[in-house]
Amino acid sequence: MRITVVGLGYVGLVTAAGLARWDHDVTGLEADPERVISLTNGEMPLHEPGLDELVETYVAAGTLRFSGKPAEALASAHVAMVAVGTTDAEGNWQTGTILRCLTEVVPLLADDAVLVVRSTIPPDFVRQLGSIVDEIRDQAGRPRVPVILNPEFTRESQAVADYLGPDRVVAGVIRDPDGHGVRTIRRVYHRVDAPIIVMRGVDASLSKLGANLFLATKISFANELARLCDAYGGKVDDVVGAMAYDTRIGGSFLKAGIGFGGSCLPHQVTQTVRNAARIGVQTPLLAAVDQINHDQRVELVDRLQELTGGELTGRRIALLGLTFKPGTDDLREAPALTVAQLLIERGAIVVAYDPMEKARVRAAREVDGLLTVGSAFEALADADAAALVTEWAEFAGLDWDAAAQTMRQALIVDGRNALTPDVLARAGFTYVSFGRGRMDPEELVSNAPAQAHPAVVGGRTSSAAALSLTEPTLLGDY
Ligand code: UGA
Repeated sequence: MRITVVGLGYVGLVTAAGLARWDHDVTGLEADPERVISLTNGEMPLHEPGLDELVETYVAAGTLRFSGKPAEALASAHVAMVAVGTTDAEGNWQTGTILRCLTEVVPLLADDAVLVVRSTIPPDFVRQLGSIVDEIRDQAGRPRVPVILNPEFTRESQAVADYLGPDRVVAGVIRDPDGHGVRTIRRVYHRVDAPIIVMRGVDASLSKLGANLFLATKISFANELARLCDAYGGKVDDVVGAMAYDTRIGGSFLKAGIGFGGSCLPHQVTQTVRNAARIGVQTPLLAAVDQINHDQRVELVDRLQELTGGELTGRRIALLGLTFKPGTDDLREAPALTVAQLLIERGAIVVAYDPMEKARVRAAREVDGLLTVGSAFEALADADAAALVTEWAEFAGLDWDAAAQTMRQALIVDGRNALTPDVLARAGFTYVSFGRGRMDPEELVSNAPAQAHPAVVGGRTSSAAALSLTEPTLLGDY
């Protein structure tokens, strides 16, 4: 099929490359001329593992190309897939971009084309979408086209694998009087080994939102459980590891720490609470999920303050990691930014390192007073305490003995429960976590031989498994 993907951000670019992988003939249409040029020259505007190889392969094969010319890109397309952004710089919903995009794209669609929307749009906008598209077609004097909402469920840093191997494809029918839209979606996803679930448009948008809200709820639940573990002297890895055997619960998205960031989960929780209140619907569970998530960031700073003797003024704090999760250079709603801001407000000198250079540059621009450096050791040098904020693999593999030597005081708060406590304690650190308690170097000596807290991965019990329950880990065995 000839498919034109409109908007080449994270979602659009992954969609375009994935469709080419499934033997479609794909044009990526993008409003930013610089992005079109750099993509045509093989330069990726964003970091997404595996995406550059995929793009390179299909550009070379001639089945994927990029364009800035709407009329040319859309004239003979069987499908136009819209994947433009729907949030503003503060992370609030905005529909201005998609409205402008529809006004430009919809009149240009061929009479037998299908309009597919992949952008994440709020349910109230979904309810208006059909009439908006109809009106644009009517005004252009052209026949109406089917409109299908096809929400995306990919995770940044695993987006290519998620798109190519989804667990479900959702097709939300907005306008499809004779079934041409749904038949087309089935052809688009002919290579996918997953159910294609057809439902009403508003249900499709709520199923997308519902999935993210549930994942956010799981994380905040894990964080509340971690508070109980800390209070009762429990170990959250063991607790969740045992719970994960219950297939009704599962082990994923129950990793405690400083909470969820990114462009999706935080803003969708906050905005759902706010928008629901506006139409008279109370969402106390989601309000608590939001509050817990915010409090985790403050808690990290409180723990650093307590560790450094109750006073942060003039203290040098090393932040390890800035991105909202490993494997991406994305800083949107990254907990690290809030943590850095709070530390600076309390008088600390904050020196941060992240393996992604772009993220370092942007973070220094976004947080006044934040210092960024080019290696973990530069950040740790002379620090009064450190905090691990993003669980990049290189932090697990760090020479923690040397790190303890270079710091003024060997104190660390592990904001992702990603390090092995006894490795740190053996290196001389006082180690504080979220739900795994605190470990001091002397405690290790008195408890020898030391054991990391076991956790379960794929039915095995191992100390290295303490890294990451049932989620795939970027830390690896170390
Ligand atoms: C999320 C969803 O997982 C995707 O399914 C969805 O398609 C996407 O939003 C979207 O709506 O576009 P993403 O924002 O890429 O994907 O990131 P996640 O992998 O969900 O992680 C979000 C945050 O939660 C990260 O900061 C991560 O560190 C944190 N997290 C995740 C935890 O704190 N604990 C966990 O157990 C899991």
